[in-house]
Amino acid sequence: SAFSTSSSAYAPHNVKNITVFGSGLMGAGIVQVAAQNAFNVTMVDLNPEALKKGQDIIASSLKRVAKKQFPEDAAQQKTFIDKTMAQIKTSTDSEAASKDADLIIEAIVENLKTKQQLFSMLDKVAPEHTLFCSNTSSLPIGEIAKATKRTDRFGGLHFFNPVPQMKLVEVIRTEETSQDSFDSLMEVCTRMKKTPVSCKDTPGFIVNRLLVPYMMESLRIVERGEATPQDVDVAMKLGAGFPMGPFELADFVGLDTMKFIVDGWRKEGKIDDNLVAPVKLLDDLVAQGNFGRKSGQGFYPYNGVGGKK
Ligand code: NAI
Repeated sequence: SAFSTSSSAYAPHNVKNITVFGSGLMGAGIVQVAAQNAFNVTMVDLNPEALKKGQDIIASSLKRVAKKQFPEDAAQQKTFIDKTMAQIKTSTDSEAASKDADLIIEAIVENLKTKQQLFSMLDKVAPEHTLFCSNTSSLPIGEIAKATKRTDRFGGLHFFNPVPQMKLVEVIRTEETSQDSFDSLMEVCTRMKKTPVSCKDTPGFIVNRLLVPYMMESLRIVERGEATPQDVDVAMKLGAGFPMGPFELADFVGLDTMKFIVDGWRKEGKIDDNLVAPVKLLDDLVAQGNFGRKSGQGFYPYNGVGGKK
C-alpha cells in the first residue's frame, strides 16, 4: 500500500545464510550462536591459521554448551555438536563467501579504513538484497556504511563478549537504515535467541556509553588514593549488585581496548570530554604492556588460563 514502510525493495525478510568476517573472539562467537540456531554460516578470515583459531574457540565453547544442555548424555552432546558444526563453512575467499549471503556480519580488526575497504569490496560482489552490518564497539556505523552504496541496508549488530553467554545485542540504525533492514536485523537477533535493543548511531551506543565513563571514574577514585581497586570492586558487587567490579571488568575487556575507546571518543569530540578525560594510571599500565587478563597482568595478576591468581 501507499503507507507501506517497506521502503527498501531489497532487505530480506527471511535471512537464511549468514557470512561472518573475522574469526577472532567475537566473530567465532557470532558464528557459533548463528549455527546453533539453524542459520547456514560461513566464517571468513585472512588465512587458514586464523580460521583454525576460530574453529577451536567454537569447538571448546560448544562442548561447554552441550554439557550444560544435555548433562550425563554423551550421545546427545555429540549430536548437538555435530549438528552445529555442520552448519558452519569456512573460507579465506571473501568474494566467494559473500555470493549466497543474506546477511554479512563484520567482526574484523577495529580500524575504520580496514572496515571501509572490506565493505567497499563486498558492496560490489554481494547480492543486492544482502544486508551488511558491523559489530564495531567504537566506530560510527554511518562512517563505515559510507564506503558502500547500500546505506539503507546497513546497520550495526553489537554483540557482547562472551557471545554465547551474553543475551544482549544492540541493533544500531543510522539515519539511512531502512525500516525493512532494521526489522530484519531485529528478527535475526530473536532467532539467535538473543534480546535485541535498538539505539541510534551514537558513541558507545547504550552499554558502553554508560559503562566507560563509570569505569574511568573508578580509575580516578584509585588515582586520587580514595580507595583500592579491590575495595571498589567489592563495593560495586555487593553495594550495586554488579556481577563484576569495574577493575575486574576493565581487565576482562582489556586496558588497551579501554584506552583505545576513550582516546577515540575524545578525538571525535561527540561526548562530554570530562567523562573520558585521560587517566594516567590507565595510560601507564597500557604503556607497560599490562593489558589485563589477556597479557597476564592488569589491575590483578592472571594465570595462563585467564583465571585470577
Ligand atoms: P580479534 O582480534 O579477536 O579478531 C579479529 C579477526 O579479524 C582476526 O582473526 C583477524 O585475522 C581478522 N581479520 C582482520 N582483517 C580481516 C579482513 N580484512 N577479512 C577477514 N578477516 C580479517 O577481534 P575481536 O575482539 O573479535 O573484535 C572484532 C570486532 O568486534 C571489533 O570491531 C571490535 O570492536 C568488536 N567487538 C569486540 C568486543 C570484545 O569484547 N572484544 C565486544 C564487542 C564488539
